[in-house]
Amino acid sequence: MATGRPLVIAIDGPAASGKGTLAERVGERFGLAHLDTGKLYRATALGVLERGGDPANPNAAEKAARNVDFSRLADTRLLEENVARASSVVAAIPGVRIVLLEAQRRFARHPPPLGSGPAKGAVLDGRDIGTVVCPDADVKLFVTASPESRAWRRAKELRQDDAAAIYEAVLQDMRERDARDSQRRVAPLAAAPDAVTIDTTSLDADQAFELACDLIARHCAGR
Ligand code: CDP
Repeated sequence: MATGRPLVIAIDGPAASGKGTLAERVGERFGLAHLDTGKLYRATALGVLERGGDPANPNAAEKAARNVDFSRLADTRLLEENVARASSVVAAIPGVRIVLLEAQRRFARHPPPLGSGPAKGAVLDGRDIGTVVCPDADVKLFVTASPESRAWRRAKELRQDDAAAIYEAVLQDMRERDARDSQRRVAPLAAAPDAVTIDTTSLDADQAFELACDLIARHCAGR
């Protein structure tokens, strides 16, 4: 890399499109700190639910957003489906997004060190990274797939031994969340005009990873 500026990669896409796995692997390959920004909204939602609050209440949600602890994003309760549902409700509240925006930008500008030494930059995945959080990102990817294949993947993640039993409910939840995320007034789920779309409906994780690595390596060569 020719410049000392941190490399910033933005990866957006709908639920269970494969963007999280891709972002994690891209981070490892290029020596970048990774932030799964969905976890910030999930942690906000969990904070409201734990206090018995209503995720649609702006005061309760903004307070929970201010209390999000970046060091506790590995909490497995964040993966629960009721938390996922509530996360897209808090995410539609403008005040919540304002609270979380600055922290995400700080992460991109000053990525935390990796176990192996300083990070060369950051990779953030979410819904509005290329459009709002990091509009100047070096490379922007929009990872998508059909709702049916995303629901099947998520059902397998949630219940490996009996995914078929919950598939219909997961698909329904996902359609509702997609609609809320795409139709909200502030920072809706959208591909930035300069994003490259990777459709993972018929690509496996390795193929999506190789495509992304090619794009990033080409960008780095020209920096
Ligand atoms: O893992 P999954 O794709 O199911 O969702 P997630 O990335 O953990 O995001 C959970 C929710 O947070 C989404 O449904 C969005 O409503 C919200 N979110 C957002 O609004 N903006 C982001 N940059 C990331 C997530």
